[in-house]
Amino acid sequence: MRGVTKSFGRHTVLQDITFDVPRGKTTAILGPSGTGKSVLLKTIIGLLTPERGQIFVDGEPVVGIREKELYRIRRKFGVLFQDGALFGSMSLFDNIAFPLREHTSKSEREIRRIVLDKADLVGLGDHLTKLPGEVSGGMRKRAGLARALVLDPEIILFDEPDSGLDPVRVAYLDDLVVTAQRESGATFFIITHNIQSVMRTADYMGLLFRSRLVAFGSKAEMSTTADPIVTQFLQGRAEGPIAMDEMAEPEDQPGGLGAPLAASAGSVAALGPVSSSAAG
Ligand SMILES: Nc1ncnc2c1ncn2[C@@H]1O[C@H](COP(=O)(O)OP(=O)(O)O)[C@@H](O)[C@H]1O
Ligand SMILES: [Mg+2]
Repeated sequence: MRGVTKSFGRHTVLQDITFDVPRGKTTAILGPSGTGKSVLLKTIIGLLTPERGQIFVDGEPVVGIREKELYRIRRKFGVLFQDGALFGSMSLFDNIAFPLREHTSKSEREIRRIVLDKADLVGLGDHLTKLPGEVSGGMRKRAGLARALVLDPEIILFDEPDSGLDPVRVAYLDDLVVTAQRESGATFFIITHNIQSVMRTADYMGLLFRSRLVAFGSKAEMSTTADPIVTQFLQGRAEGPIAMDEMAEPEDQPGGLGAPLAASAGSVAALGPVSSSAAG
């Protein structure tokens, strides 16, 4: 990302954002609620167009290109939307199979093999005939992850993968993210405000604050920096340059990337509704 600036009216959400996402690693962008994390993700997949700057995917620019080219580049991405964004009337199997049926000419037998393989990876093997409404939020996320993986994308984007999950299910999903990254070798890009989760999953991390990327580095670099914004955010302290009014309440912010597609659980991290299902 090179010098990306995105505004809505007079409100500049992203200002002159520049960083590189290392290939084949997990990178997380952290930031208080409402700082433009979802906007950043939407600019990467071309759902929003920045006023200035350029974004390169595998060296190819994506800002200002034709729709047809954009579709070709988008096929390199798998996206795990908030709340999984599954089709409510389709079984988990059909949801996971959807990209394969839509974008490939594979036989049903081949599709079945791939779906079962990815479902096993995320621990959903026994639940594939169920509808999204019949399983817990944690299972919907895992189904969303399996669906993001079926086309073996080079890059996987996550919009607040922890939202709506209790801490135990977040930890479980983080393990899956680490395993999936290792098995696929893909470039993982996660936006979140969950520091614990980032510490478990990310190799590199950046921090968005007041519309700027104030820091970016390896996990070790970021954990040892003396930067007061980074240390305040990583330690979750009340004292420091980040003021209370900058930490918008979860209900103040617009829905995440998945919101227009599914009834979103919102960005309520550990405080979100906990499903009563034990299978989680
Ligand atoms: N389509 C839009 N139109 C106008 N303002 C928007 C739009 N999308 C996001 N914003 C604003 O941009 C800011 C960042 O939003 P967002 O990226 O959703 O934050 P978060 O970091 O919580 O994901 C917020 O102030 C939000 O109101
Ligand atoms: Mg968001």
